[in-house]
Amino acid sequence: MRLDRFLSELNIGTRSQVKSALRQGLVTVNGLTERDAGRRIDELSDRVCFQGRSLHYRKFVYYMLNKPAGVVSATRDNTAETVVSLLGEDALRDIFPVGRLDKDTTGLLLLTNDGELSHRLLSPKRHVDKVYRVTIEHPLSEEEKTGLEQGVDIMEESHSMEEGHSHAGACPGEAVWHTLPARVEILSDREILLTIHEGKFHQVKRMLRAVGNRVLALERVGFGGLVLDQGLKPGEYRELTEQEVDSLHEA
Ligand code: URA
Repeated sequence: MRLDRFLSELNIGTRSQVKSALRQGLVTVNGLTERDAGRRIDELSDRVCFQGRSLHYRKFVYYMLNKPAGVVSATRDNTAETVVSLLGEDALRDIFPVGRLDKDTTGLLLLTNDGELSHRLLSPKRHVDKVYRVTIEHPLSEEEKTGLEQGVDIMEESHSMEEGHSHAGACPGEAVWHTLPARVEILSDREILLTIHEGKFHQVKRMLRAVGNRVLALERVGFGGLVLDQGLKPGEYRELTEQEVDSLHEA
């Protein structure tokens, strides 16, 4: 890979800052000062230093974001701020959100450039856990709780991320989903912890509606073994630890 690309992928600076650093002789390759931005290096075996600090190339990066409300889970949007723009300069490397949270949903969102891991985590076959703290309109009745625990029928909508299947009682051409059994923990009169294993469009809101309740606020606190870092304020993010990345691979 080109040396200037290597340096900008490691967030040494913008392209012009990288060029300037090279001109100033701040970069060495295998112990020798290198000023040529187009020099080709082997990112895994060549030893590159910036201001005497050794740089280690990582192909993939993983960030945990505490998504604030009002931001869309996309890489680009014409009108609203996106989760990727919250990463600032760390967003340099083809980073995208793994799945989507609604604009008004807050909490744990994983961002990465690892397409294969993302694909696995979102695969409908894998049933990766998603844990939501849900503020509800009225206290959950026993019947509503049982409904969520046993699974409810929800109508397929065009934005669904998974495929639907026809169900007795559905109109021709319409599809109904019976959600997988969810785990429900009552936190207070108006708050529950809901663990689901699918990721369909507006799933939690639609599940609560299906049992006769309503979501007033939604925060994701867990995803595939990851737990939202309570030290992250809305809009803040951090890199995942190695252990957290491992836990995602095992999810
Ligand atoms: N379910 C929803 O309804 N919305 C989300 O953002 C995530 C899950």
